[in-house]
Amino acid sequence: MISNPISNGINGSANIPGDKSISHRSIIIPSISNGICEITNILKSEDVENTLNAFKDMGVKIEKVRNKVIIYGNGLNSLKKPKNEIYLGNSGTSARLLIGLLSSQNFNSVLTGDKSLSKRPMKRISDPLRKMNAKINTSKGTLPVSIEGNDLVSANIDLEIPSAQIKSGILLASLNSSGKTIISENKITRDHTETMLESFGANIEIKKNYNKKIIKITGKKELVSKNIEVPNDLSSSAFFIVSALINKNSEITLKNINNNPTRNGIILALKKMGGKISIFNERFSNNERVCDIKVESSDLIGCDLSSEYADLMIDEYPIIAVAASFAKSPSVFRGLNELRVKESDRLELILLNLKNCGIRCNVDKDDLYIFPSQKYNLNTNIIQTDYDHRIAMAFAIMGTKIGPLNIKDSNSINTSFPDFIREINKLGGDIHW
Ligand code: S3P
Repeated sequence: MISNPISNGINGSANIPGDKSISHRSIIIPSISNGICEITNILKSEDVENTLNAFKDMGVKIEKVRNKVIIYGNGLNSLKKPKNEIYLGNSGTSARLLIGLLSSQNFNSVLTGDKSLSKRPMKRISDPLRKMNAKINTSKGTLPVSIEGNDLVSANIDLEIPSAQIKSGILLASLNSSGKTIISENKITRDHTETMLESFGANIEIKKNYNKKIIKITGKKELVSKNIEVPNDLSSSAFFIVSALINKNSEITLKNINNNPTRNGIILALKKMGGKISIFNERFSNNERVCDIKVESSDLIGCDLSSEYADLMIDEYPIIAVAASFAKSPSVFRGLNELRVKESDRLELILLNLKNCGIRCNVDKDDLYIFPSQKYNLNTNIIQTDYDHRIAMAFAIMGTKIGPLNIKDSNSINTSFPDFIREINKLGGDIHW
């Protein structure tokens, strides 16, 4: 993908796709509930398609009718042993959530993934599940993972790594286990799973005390299905928000965006940098906070983001690093160790590609420092992405200012935002395959 510089700004209203995290959960939870669930605005992307195919392979009746996906759920014990290994492509969320869910089924299963997913750590989910007697065999801590379905017992689990994927995997395992499992979380992680489970009638109790959260879930209670309208994805919106902020003569509106407070750090951070961002029409849809967003060109200043921001915006560091490259003063983003185990080593790739774009930056332990200079002498215009969708889209936005940039392996964007190029070009971008 080649991203060329633009001169007339980014203007108009973009169609942002459905939220990826909520889309995965809107397939998984109705598939083990009782009743019919009609899902509207589900994300149509490779990651979500892999989750959907996994449940079809386990005997769930799933239909696509016009713009809706319809799931016919038959309860906690209705999944069938899949005939083959379950392939999850690039999707870490599918892998961690399914390891939890499948460990409490009455059949064995094997999960596989693509090259990138097969390098990502799975012990972080298999270790806590072992406390519940789960029988999971990882290949030296990674996929392929073999799961021997088993009657699990309840346990008290302290989340050592702040991860919604781990928390969700344990919650899904607990649904089909006897007794009360207690999960303690010391840092905020996105809460879409708890929110959906509550609305489907799970026996779940949540207590919050500042950043400490205790979730108690009692298993063996059947869930009742409901229709789901998936809101649009704030993480995908972030590429558009930053493109409007850093390009002169820009003004965009994004509608129906998920503004879940466990996930909206990017808005808080960009406002701290002087971004002209207004949130309006705030409302709730399926217990998720939703809003519209207006963004205008802004003179950004640098900022110091503590590690607490990382809990609220872990997927947005590639794009905020691009924003910081056009600010008037330096930025430091702290506590980014989890960025090293995403779809790529994102911390290393941000550093490498910023340097290649002529931006002075360095990493000290897990903190990223960026020193913008307003002069951009490219070392090379080749952007290395290691097949990571968010690195590809972030540096495509970088290209709108200092391109042409040649973004390698960019078909990875199909994992989360297949229409990215069409949408950005509609608003004034100049990006081509
Ligand atoms: C996700 C959780 C996050 C995030 C990922 C999606 C989810 O990962 O990075 O893109 O849907 O639960 P961790 O929970 O492992 O940090």
